[in-house]
Amino acid sequence: MNCKVPIVGNVYWIGANDRETALFENYWPLDKGVSYNSYLINDEKVALVDTVKFNKTSQYMEKIRDVIGDKKIDYIIINHMEPDHSGSLKELIHQYPDIKIVGNKKTFQFVKGFYDIVDNYYEINDGDVLDLGHHKIKFYTTPMVHWPETMMSYDMTEKVLFSGDAFGGFGALDGGIFDDEVNIDFYESEIRRYYTNIVGKYSPMVQKALKKLSGVEIGYVCATHGPIWRENPENIIKTYDDLSSYKSEEGVVIVYGTMYGNTAKMADYLSRIISEAGIKEVKVYDASKTHVSYIISDIWKYKGLVLGSCAYNTGVFPSMDSVLKKLEVINLKDRYLGIFGCCSWSGGGVKGINAFAEKTNWELVEEPVEAVCTPKTEEFEKLDKIGREIARKVKESFK
Ligand code: FEO
Repeated sequence: MNCKVPIVGNVYWIGANDRETALFENYWPLDKGVSYNSYLINDEKVALVDTVKFNKTSQYMEKIRDVIGDKKIDYIIINHMEPDHSGSLKELIHQYPDIKIVGNKKTFQFVKGFYDIVDNYYEINDGDVLDLGHHKIKFYTTPMVHWPETMMSYDMTEKVLFSGDAFGGFGALDGGIFDDEVNIDFYESEIRRYYTNIVGKYSPMVQKALKKLSGVEIGYVCATHGPIWRENPENIIKTYDDLSSYKSEEGVVIVYGTMYGNTAKMADYLSRIISEAGIKEVKVYDASKTHVSYIISDIWKYKGLVLGSCAYNTGVFPSMDSVLKKLEVINLKDRYLGIFGCCSWSGGGVKGINAFAEKTNWELVEEPVEAVCTPKTEEFEKLDKIGREIARKVKESFK
């Protein structure tokens, strides 16, 4: 017997936890696992909403039968085609050959491309309604949140929003499935890490999707990852609105790349100055030690950012370079910036960060500082200025 979780009426969570996979998309650390959430509506017509990743298919097929026994399935609604959700589609069709695949025009390009499935398409357009008997499912296309085919399905009868990746996050569901059953602080942090690294680049499209949903009465938010929101669905919607409008909190992140500790010494000094200036949230990261996904998550959270690098092969230190490249991709807006670093037989670290800074719309709070081999009095004095000024500006913006 598998756990099948009723959500409301005849709507069930039939998702799976994955604690074996080390890296999501073979890149993002899953220290606390991830869930692939699929849903089943057991009405006169039976519909599934998304599936699970291929490594969980057999457990998934069992869960379906635990709910509906030998009943047939009429529809598989595909809100998102990425293989962590469509990975069980082939087996599903093998076991239920008459099932209709519900998606939009773009969905079917991927259905054919990934799985060579070309039959039983049921194409919907934005605003269409699918009648299951008691339940009526309305479709909202939400392109580029975060793939082109992404859409959301809304159960008008029970006011359940099946939202795809939107509103989801990392973290397996360790018994608690609903927001009121878990320590939500952990999931909110993992939702931010998921959003900022995977969806954040498409924030303008997230804002469009939120506007499209603005008149919809939402009683439950059921994403493809993370907890189901039934007690406070408005919380996760507000969180998404804040994230996608680049809203920040009072705090400063310092990230640096160092070989022999001199740039690290500058970071430590700077962190003390910022703290003395009254900022309580100061987060210091060695880019070689902490995975970039955690660093990006905090950079998105806080208003101030100071980037540091030693010179390495006449350029930016490699681990710091990946932070810069990631920042360039996600296109975060509206932050205060400071820059520091060290050089020895060549420059390159600070120069590289300067080149990055020119591509952003962020405000540089003070002139960058670069020490030769080791920081000395003159560089510490310049760090004083950067630290005090970024703290002042950050505090000012929250008054
Ligand atoms: Fe959870 Fe975009 O796949």
